[in-house]
Amino acid sequence: MKNKYKKAVVTGGAGFIGSHLVEALLTNGCHVTVIDNLSTGSLSNLEQVKDHIVFFETDIRDQDALTRATKGCDIIFHQAARVSVPMTVEHPVESAMINDVGTLMVLEAARFGNIKKVIFASSCAVYGDDPRLPKDENMFPEPLSPYAVHKLTGELYCRLYHDLHGIETVCLRYFNVFGPKQDSSSPYSGVISIFMAKAVSEEAPVIYGDGNQYRDFVFVKDVVNANLLAANSEDLGTKIFNIGAGNFIRIHQLWKLICQMSGVDVEPEYRPGRPGDIHESVASTELAKSVLGFKPAYSLEEGLEITLKWHSGS
Ligand code: UD1
Repeated sequence: MKNKYKKAVVTGGAGFIGSHLVEALLTNGCHVTVIDNLSTGSLSNLEQVKDHIVFFETDIRDQDALTRATKGCDIIFHQAARVSVPMTVEHPVESAMINDVGTLMVLEAARFGNIKKVIFASSCAVYGDDPRLPKDENMFPEPLSPYAVHKLTGELYCRLYHDLHGIETVCLRYFNVFGPKQDSSSPYSGVISIFMAKAVSEEAPVIYGDGNQYRDFVFVKDVVNANLLAANSEDLGTKIFNIGAGNFIRIHQLWKLICQMSGVDVEPEYRPGRPGDIHESVASTELAKSVLGFKPAYSLEEGLEITLKWHSGS
């Protein structure tokens, strides 16, 4: 895809999704600046591209650094965030400083730097447990965690900065993103990365709750593609799109599938459900399809194969 813009900034560009996005932008001929404080991101995620980017090791709340990093850019992809739902339940104030104030500061940098467009990594967590499925963008948000409140707040700020300052803002409500480079080392990591690491070492994973909760898992390269489509679509004004695969799997079935694919046979350990956890989540991707031309290219199995290879080191 040929980019319509020349210079992009990716906040959280050393993180899981951000680093894949950086690679794709470079492939498409864009100049890329990365801002990351390396709190959860890692330079190893940028090893392949480190000579082709400008890197600012800084927090998004450092207004001076943010102003310098974003100077002269056409577009900001705002991926930096505290992404763990339970961590925001445990540390809501610190998380709000990163997720709410951080997003506001990115928008301020766009405002004062005359940057035309901001793409914001939002989340399907904003829907909460509305029983209607699939989730579509017209549903009333019902956040169940500080994390969901942060993402909803970020969306509202995006709309405001469009209305007040004319910045084009696109919020992508990611469903559960997975793929290579997703960190598996903490209990707060995404479930697929944790299950993969457990399968590779033939250890029992923990399933929180009864395992019947389900998620719409979308492969990271599809999410990157959604970002590029949103960036290249003109005159969006201010919009919100679901970015998911459009189907789902239950958490206990996910473990069985990963066991099958990796040839292991280990029973999971069950623990009580996590506070703030949503039960059912599956995306309607109709809007993203009709407006952006978004269509996921990877099935769950294809994405899992690629991810398993990465976790196995092959
Ligand atoms: C994830 C993302 C969040 C994103 C949201 C969209 C991470 C860390 N969080 O949150 O940024 O906005 O999707 O829905 O990527 N589980 C287990 N065992 C484990 C880990 C998790 O049973 O070891 C369960 C959880 O209780 C939950 C499900 O798996 O029911 C998914 O958990 P997780 O991968 O943390 O994702 P979300 O909380 O959905």
